[in-house]
Amino acid sequence: MASYDEIFEKSIQDPERFWGEAAEGISWEKKWDKVLDSSNPPFYRWYTGGKLNTCYNAVDRHVENGRGDQAAIIYDSPVTDTVRKITYSELQKDVALFAGVLKSQGVQKGDTVIIYMPMIPEAAVAMLACARLGAIHSVVFGGFAAQELAIRIDHAQPRVLVCASGAIEGKKKLAYKPLVDAAIEQSNHKPEKCIVFKRDFVDADLQTGRDFDWMTLMAAASPADCVPVDATDPLYILYTSGTTGMPKGVMRDNGGHAVALHWSMKNIYDINPGDVFWSASDVGWVVGHSYIVYGPLLNGSTTVFYEGKPIGTPDAGAFWRVISQHGVKSLFTAPTAFRAIKKEDPNGDFLKKYNLSCFEALYLAGERLDPDTYHWACNLLKVPVIDHWWQTETGWAIVANCRGIEEFPVKAGSPTKPVVGYDVRIMDNQGREVKAGVEGNIVIKLPLPPGTLVNLWRNEERFIKSYMTAFKGYYETSDGGYIDEDGYVFVMGRMDDVINIAGHRLSTGAMEEIIATHPAIAECAVFGIADQLKGQSPLGLFVLKAGVDVKEDDIKTELVKMVREKIGPVACFKESARVLRLPKTRSGKILRGTMRSIADGKDYRMPSTIDDPASLTEITETLKSMGYPRT
Ligand code: COA
Ligand code: AMP
Repeated sequence: MASYDEIFEKSIQDPERFWGEAAEGISWEKKWDKVLDSSNPPFYRWYTGGKLNTCYNAVDRHVENGRGDQAAIIYDSPVTDTVRKITYSELQKDVALFAGVLKSQGVQKGDTVIIYMPMIPEAAVAMLACARLGAIHSVVFGGFAAQELAIRIDHAQPRVLVCASGAIEGKKKLAYKPLVDAAIEQSNHKPEKCIVFKRDFVDADLQTGRDFDWMTLMAAASPADCVPVDATDPLYILYTSGTTGMPKGVMRDNGGHAVALHWSMKNIYDINPGDVFWSASDVGWVVGHSYIVYGPLLNGSTTVFYEGKPIGTPDAGAFWRVISQHGVKSLFTAPTAFRAIKKEDPNGDFLKKYNLSCFEALYLAGERLDPDTYHWACNLLKVPVIDHWWQTETGWAIVANCRGIEEFPVKAGSPTKPVVGYDVRIMDNQGREVKAGVEGNIVIKLPLPPGTLVNLWRNEERFIKSYMTAFKGYYETSDGGYIDEDGYVFVMGRMDDVINIAGHRLSTGAMEEIIATHPAIAECAVFGIADQLKGQSPLGLFVLKAGVDVKEDDIKTELVKMVREKIGPVACFKESARVLRLPKTRSGKILRGTMRSIADGKDYRMPSTIDDPASLTEITETLKSMGYPRT
């Protein structure tokens, strides 16, 4: 078998040949005319002229190929005490019927549908049903508040919204429908129909004429067939945090996405058809899209839908129970989940209760994997622990130890080497490549491989400005890091105002926009500080308007409530403090990075452009009074 170096070189030197061959793993209604259309950079198009259906590739073809009785989805929900297996044949039936439901509600190829559901198989059914019709889904994570949902409704302009009546988060029962109602109330665009999957622990009020019960519609529906779409037609939009309150609608196509994810299952994760793959994330995030739903199903593997937490449902042995009960070959989750387990069960006593002989590898991503957690997981599980780096924008890993091709020795702190197809470079701010070991901006030479973002939904200008302008001919990842002498990539963190809280991507800019609306506040800054469990957590500093007479504690409580209500509990905004002024450069730029270094106890250089060096002394004192840096 060819080595990583050979395969990697081929993918970079002759991407058309490489990805043309990889595309044979997908069933096409019509083969492409051109593998890569580079006629309009930086907009690259894969498999132009090709026609396919993603749902057919993820479901129907496996039934036709004899996998009908194999489990496609294992739904494991400790919070509702349910374990249910759904075979590929059953999934095909459900998806075809729900596609029929959507069709009967007016959904056609090219329409958008918003899905606001917890970790239940119906979420996958809704996504695949959209794909079946050539409609474009946009899944919104359940931890976002009504306003965030409203922003997405206004931007995606869905014809139909699909939701569940509620979710169980750990031990809390949450009603989703009131949030959906509030979001539709707030949005200018109104979805014509709302389809509600009712769960037995929480009911939902249905508005006559607009809201319909999932089960009732399913009982009356006729199945719908797969609609062939162009390879370049959009499959989904996934909103992700940028540097402002307006999220970015990452757009993924059908053809490139299907080819890349199918290819990645074997080559990155070493997963074969029939293997059980478990991604313990949420369908609302990119990991959920790529590796709970599409990747494993495109590959004919079995995916686990886990509605629970790593701890507390019921204990820190939950992951080991699921792995042993369902014969999971590989688990993919965020390092935070492992930090949570480690905190609760540092000696791994729970593991001793389960037989994990089926388990071959652990994959971690979503945030930096700190060496402590890496070593703890290695010692505990005695299987390869694979860190891999990617982003919502890329949809699949940029840097990873491609175990299906060749496994490299790990250097803790590095996700190892660039994935086949990604030409990763490090550049200084002037766009010059730096030497091995020197830190800079991580960029990727264009074209990006298939499956990566093709544009931002209804915002081409932002696509160009955010990703394609700073380094001409390269995609700007907004992560910083370096590549060492051996070609290992080290990702050190975001260079912008995006933070990662418990593996969840959030915008400090969006939090600032909310805080700035407080009537007593003149200006504010939010930045991410190191958090032992969640990796990062947000901290806010605010300056009061002159002459306002309010208690600082009251404002702090109000800010927590405001961010929770406007963005959602998932923002985890809990800490803030009043300062007399914020440190700024002479041109007025707030020095968030410097404040973050002070809070984290890291060395920092006094910026030469600072307006008033004494402002940093005040910040240092304030942070100290809050207990930062933590020792
Ligand atoms: N719907 C509604 N609320 C949600 C939610 C959802 N889908 N997901 C999270 N929330 C809420 C939580 O209930 C919590 O609310 P609270 O402030 O009222 O307690 C808040 O958002 C913060 O959630 P979280 O950051 O997840 O903290 P937690 O204490 O509930 O759990 C962990 C901590 C580490 C167990 C949890 O974050 C975890 O499992 N992380 C794994 C990371 C992961 O899957 N990342 C996905 C990308 S790979
Ligand atoms: P998201 O778009 O939610 O997947 O978040 C993407 C961001 O998470 C990246 O830009 C990184 O900052 C961070 N990230 C994801 N995976 C890793 C990793 N393995 N190591 C370091 N940072 C990571």
